Amino acid sequence: MIRLSSVTFKGEKITDWLAYFQYNEKHLLKLDFALSEKISKEEIRMIAPSVQAFQKGEGSDGSHLLKTVEDYANKTGDIRYVKEMVYFIREENRHSTTLKKFMDVYQIKPAVTCGLDGIFRMLRKSSGLKGEILVLVTAEMIALSYYTALSKAVSSELLGQICRQMLRDELRHVLFQSERLGKIGLTEKDRHLRKLLMAASANAVWLKFGKVFERGGYSKTAYMSECMGYLKQSDRIAEEMQEKQEVQT
Ligand SMILES: [Fe+2]
Ligand SMILES: [Fe+2]
Repeated sequence: MIRLSSVTFKGEKITDWLAYFQYNEKHLLKLDFALSEKISKEEIRMIAPSVQAFQKGEGSDGSHLLKTVEDYANKTGDIRYVKEMVYFIREENRHSTTLKKFMDVYQIKPAVTCGLDGIFRMLRKSSGLKGEILVLVTAEMIALSYYTALSKAVSSELLGQICRQMLRDELRHVLFQSERLGKIGLTEKDRHLRKLLMAASANAVWLKFGKVFERGGYSKTAYMSECMGYLKQSDRIAEEMQEKQEVQT
């Protein structure tokens, strides 16, 4: 498990998210789609369902999220957050496009529907900004373990490059969302809900894509404890931010 507190921007703790997103957009890792490596049919079959699901999950247009963020910004006066979110959504769409490009190389068709993605979207849309972020960051924490596993499940330089970029971005997304949860404020009930949501979601992902995690070196116990570990870290970041806010007000 990666320590979220070790994640920095230009060697420092990230304090200006807009500057970070703007910089990151222009400093991506090089992805060489011309590598044309051979990946066996068996390996493609093993990774395809999860890659399809994550490609779909990463690809939301973000209009509902942005509307919720705008309402929040109008209430709180935090207009800068809207700009940060525009960049964030753009990053997620880039993730989806990157996975689609990889799928095209290996003739993996896009998913028409994805049960898990549908549930995540429904949950997100049925609640306010806090609910949206709670769901979003849960998926992002699971993605940390997923991209770690995927990079090891198949021997492919291109897939390795893609997973490295995803991990780099998602680690910062988890920090970004966790800090915002702290700014909004989490109650004991919210923290309990987060645990339940993570346990249920991580379990559902394992049920569908456990094979990829196993091939990536995870046992179910190791995977579950990593997901819960990320949640603990996210909770701590949120708590620190919340305490800071309370001191300031
Ligand atoms: Fe993403
Ligand atoms: Fe993300």
